[in-house]
Parts: sequence; C-alpha cells; structure tokens
Amino acid sequence: MKLFDVYPVNDIIIDKAAGSTVWDEKGTEYLDLYGGHAVISIGHTHPHYVKRLTDQLHKIGFYSNSVKMPLQEELAALLGKVSGKADYQLFLCNSGAEANENALKLASFYNGRKKIIAFRKAFHGRTSLAVAATDNPKIVAPVNETDNVVFLPWNDEAALEAAFKQYEVSAVIIEGIQGVGGINVAPESFLQKIRSLCDAHNAVFIADSVQCGYGRSGKFFSHDFAGVNADIYTMAKGMGNGFPIGGIIIAPKFQAVYGMLGTTFGGNHLACVAALSVLEVIQSENLISNAATIGAYLMEELRKFSQVKEVRGRGLMIGIEMPEELAEVRKNLLAKHRIFTGEAKPNVIRLLPSLALTKADADRFLEAFGKEVK
Ligand SMILES: Cc1ncc(COP(=O)(O)O)c(C=O)c1O
Repeated sequence: MKLFDVYPVNDIIIDKAAGSTVWDEKGTEYLDLYGGHAVISIGHTHPHYVKRLTDQLHKIGFYSNSVKMPLQEELAALLGKVSGKADYQLFLCNSGAEANENALKLASFYNGRKKIIAFRKAFHGRTSLAVAATDNPKIVAPVNETDNVVFLPWNDEAALEAAFKQYEVSAVIIEGIQGVGGINVAPESFLQKIRSLCDAHNAVFIADSVQCGYGRSGKFFSHDFAGVNADIYTMAKGMGNGFPIGGIIIAPKFQAVYGMLGTTFGGNHLACVAALSVLEVIQSENLISNAATIGAYLMEELRKFSQVKEVRGRGLMIGIEMPEELAEVRKNLLAKHRIFTGEAKPNVIRLLPSLALTKADADRFLEAFGKEVK
C-alpha cells in the first residue's frame, strides 16, 4: 500500500530526540526550532514525561468515557491552577480542529444561533466547521462551504461592530496570535472590543489557543495579554508534547447536558498522563517565564538585522518576515546549519521551539541566521 501523498516532506528521517535536539538515522544532529509544528512544549523525550507515560502504560493505557476517570479530574484541577482559570470546565478531545469544532458547536447550543465571525488569514483546522472558519478556500471542500461563517478584516473594530448589527452572532473565534497566517499578534484593544460586543449581544468569545496557547507566548493563553477572559479556550499542540490530546475550557455560565459533546478517545488514561506531566514540567522548570525571557531576547537580537523586514510575535512564537531576495535563508538554515524552523507563506520564518529553549541554543540560531542574511 502507498501513502496518500498530501505532505511535501523534507528528505530527512528523524529517529532520535532530546530537548531541542533531534538526530537523523545517520546520527546527524539538528537544532529543532520548529517543534514538529509548535507541538514540543517541554522538550523532546523529557525524562519526567517518558517515565510518567511508561508507568501509566504498564497500568492501563485506555478506557472510554463510560467509567469514572480520576486522571481527568486531576488534569482539570492542575490546568485550572496553571492557566489561572480554575472556575472553568474542561472537555477533552484529540486535536486542535476537534477542539474548535466542539467550541463552535457548544456556542451554537448555548445561544441557539448560527453565525460565526472569523478573521482574514485565520486557521482553525480541517474538519467541517473548523475549516469553514479557516480563511483558505483551497482546503475548504464544497461540502464544507457555508454561509454561517463571515470573515472580517483583522483588527477592524468598525467592521466588527457592523457585523454585530447585521447578524445574530453565535460566536467570534480568534487566534491570540495568528500562526499559519504569519504570526500576527491580535491587538489588545481588538480582543477587548470582541469581549464587550459578545457581552452586549450574548455571543460567545472563542479564543483559539491551539498554537499560541499553553505558555508559548509568555502567558498561559496569549489572549491573556488583553486582560479579558474568553468564554471558551481551545487547546491542543503543546498540551501533550506530542501525545495527541486537545481540549476546551468552558466558562461557568455554560451548562453541560449529557450527550451534548462526546468522543471515544478523548481524555483517555495515557493522554491525561501526558498532559499532566507537561503541566508538571511547565511548573517545575518555570517554562512560561523561560519562553518570555528567551523569546524577548531572540526578538530583540533579530530586530538588529537591517535585512529583515519585520519581526513579530510574543514569547517563543516568533515570525521573521524576510525580503524576497532572502527567500532562501530558511532552506539554508536547514541544509547548511542543521536548524529546523517553520514557515508561513509567502516569506515568514516561524520559530516555534520548545518552551525550554536555552540561551545557548538561541545564540546558535542567531549566529547561523546572521551568516545567512549577510
Ligand atoms: C490556530 C490553530 N487552530 C487549530 C489548528 C488545528 O489543529 P490540529 O492540526 O491539531 O487539528 C491549528 C493547527 O495548526 C492551529 O494552528
């Protein structure tokens, strides 16, 4: 059987990893500033994570949501503590798209409405509603096309107010920092405006934190910089450090009803232990503060390169907008310097490393970057 060929891949096989380092099968070492697309939060093969998962696997790996699952309650308690949203309720699923799908559905159950406001360049996933709220017609199949989603320009308060006058809005969904869209930080005033309009119209504010969440920005949720709470936060990627897990946290005003949401795999024993061990390491190694410090250092140093058009981001979610003539830099970083980075079209280098990235690793990148842009 052949693979369904949907991914344009690098011709590299990675078969070992530790912290921010990965090795190919010949033993060549790479610095990983991509983290498998913002997934590696506490570092590859972290010993605490490996031990917790291994121990759990020897006890029980999976049972469904038909029995009591104390690990889910433990995870909810710790997540409430670390995120600062202890009064929210947790629903667990398996991926970012699924988290957004459930959030949008829950909003519609809550207020009985259908219209969703999303923004230009947004990416929310590839399942039905999530992809309909994603601003990329190429990945929206005809069956996913819907009039229920309205796209508005980024940071346009007048357009947002007009949309609330025109439609019965069910939900507004927004990334605190757009990832796939090119690392665009949502202005605090815009997030505050969304909060006040949602309050005034009983609409649901959904904070897509799948990529920008879980401490990457230097706060647990990047939306927290605005000083307002969303009604639902969606999470995945860094939550399991590579173990597939997603979730939504839901404000107290939402009432659960049996059967309203559900999943077979979501919240299984192994997934909960992966997520618990990630939060334990985030706490014990102060990784949110490390992301803020190393991220600020990287951005300050990157802004010194006059060749770079713009440096955007927060914490360890950084976009480097390159001029056309330096479009090859990202490829050379990998080919010549053995450094993995991400990209956003057309010309943004995306840095999404582990939150445990050290200053020495940041300096290694800056040196290689400096050689390439000069
Ligand atoms: C902001 C955002 N939301 C949702 C998703 C979808 O997540 P998943 O690929 O886990 O379905 C992504 C994935 O890149 C994302 O960046």
